[in-house]
Amino acid sequence: MTNVAETIVDAVYVVAILVFILGLKAMSSPATARRGIVFAGLAMLLAVAVTFLSPHLTNFLWIVIGVALGGGAGFYWARVVKMTAMPQMVAVFNGMGGGAAAAIAGVELLGSLHGVTAYLSVAGAIIGSISISGSVIAFLKLQGWMPSKAIVLPARQVVNFAALALALGFGIYAVGWLHAGYLALFFLFLVLYGVLLTLPIGGADMPVVISLFNALTGIAVGLDGFALVNGPLGDAGYAMVIAGVLVGAAGSLLTALMARAMNRSVGNVFFGAFGAQEETGGGPAGSLKAIDAADAAVLMAYAGEVVIVPGYGLAVAQAQQKVKELADLLEAKGVTVKFAIHPVAGRMPGHMNVLLAEAGISYDKLFDRDEINAEFPSVDVALVIGANDVVNPAARRKGSPLEGMPILDVDKAKNVIVIKRGQGRGFAGIENELFYGDNCRMLYGDAQSAVAQLVQALKQG
Ligand code: TAP
Repeated sequence: MTNVAETIVDAVYVVAILVFILGLKAMSSPATARRGIVFAGLAMLLAVAVTFLSPHLTNFLWIVIGVALGGGAGFYWARVVKMTAMPQMVAVFNGMGGGAAAAIAGVELLGSLHGVTAYLSVAGAIIGSISISGSVIAFLKLQGWMPSKAIVLPARQVVNFAALALALGFGIYAVGWLHAGYLALFFLFLVLYGVLLTLPIGGADMPVVISLFNALTGIAVGLDGFALVNGPLGDAGYAMVIAGVLVGAAGSLLTALMARAMNRSVGNVFFGAFGAQEETGGGPAGSLKAIDAADAAVLMAYAGEVVIVPGYGLAVAQAQQKVKELADLLEAKGVTVKFAIHPVAGRMPGHMNVLLAEAGISYDKLFDRDEINAEFPSVDVALVIGANDVVNPAARRKGSPLEGMPILDVDKAKNVIVIKRGQGRGFAGIENELFYGDNCRMLYGDAQSAVAQLVQALKQG
């Protein structure tokens, strides 16, 4: 009977793994991403459910309480979270994974682990602990409960190194002498190191940070899985190895993509303290010039080509349906309409693609930065909707917190219209000289109502 149950559990794990991979594959395109999420969720449900059949499982009551509490809280939060608060939720969920991996490693280390298994658990503990504390700081920054700019403490590199060295020292003692007190200190200093590592990372670099912690969580879970394989719950270890490897690999690729989008190396993001510089000088020269919806509509209606640049404000205002209406109206008037998508626009990878897809805007109208940048000098109107950092020419200036980040070259368009509510800065918290340019006009208002006014004016025109 035991063997039959084990065989069933193993077989279902293999099915779950295949469904995980299919889910990941489907997530690679916005058209199939929703299906990918459902697949991945089903695979996880399958893997967790079948583990209950494992003949070696004990402590059912505690497990059920844990699943009910964690699952219930996650289900509730995911249902009520606003689309714009999704990144901080992802940061916390990532962190939870890292924390769980660290806790499992802690329990394994308190048992009598030896040799390679003990080292794998130590590695899982290190990565998982850094991931949870770093993710909590990322959450606080994204939630706005902590300044999003870089917080640089004095002698930062020395202090960080000391925290890591102390953690490793206590770790060695804890493993060598199976000592719970040293183990606690090991975790304490690792958590501190995660905090210290994340504090100096400035606003605009958050996408790299979130994806790296995501990857680290996967790696920590995978390492724990290896250690578990040698214990009585060996099969569950295999499931963790596969899930961890998939998350680790996908997260690492995403980290590389995000770092490339910011034109930084991952090391640079973590140790370069970008965004720590305060802006100096009296801000951009010139003044902000307003335009009303009627004039903006005329400018666009007579344009040959309009490029719409969506940003975080479009997501906050949920203006995507109105933007689709605007694009349709302009096209009906013979205007060529394109959308310029910056890889870190919004607050999560693919944020703008998802929003525009939701409104039924066809993918062939979406152009990434490399495809569209050369076109801007011949674009009649660039309509910036709730974007700021991704169109900020300060990125071309040495010493700017955005230094080196490739932007959409909107400032080179013949005319620029920017929809935003007021003088609010972007996520990186710096002034934007684009708005002061001679070719730029500000259409003030919430993105949804401002675009609605444009639609209205075009219909009347
Ligand atoms: P941001 O630089 O965040 O600027 C958004 C602008 O939208 C603000 O200046 C704000 O100005 C305006 N806004 C806010 N609510 C609005 C509303 N209801 N209607 C109209 N405008 C509104 O946006 P971005 O250009 O998309 O840049 C994204 C930034 O977030 C980058 O720094 C990026 O690194 C960072 N980030 C990205 C991610 C990912 S993965 N995409 C994750 C974390 C962080 P007003 O207040 O004046 O309206």
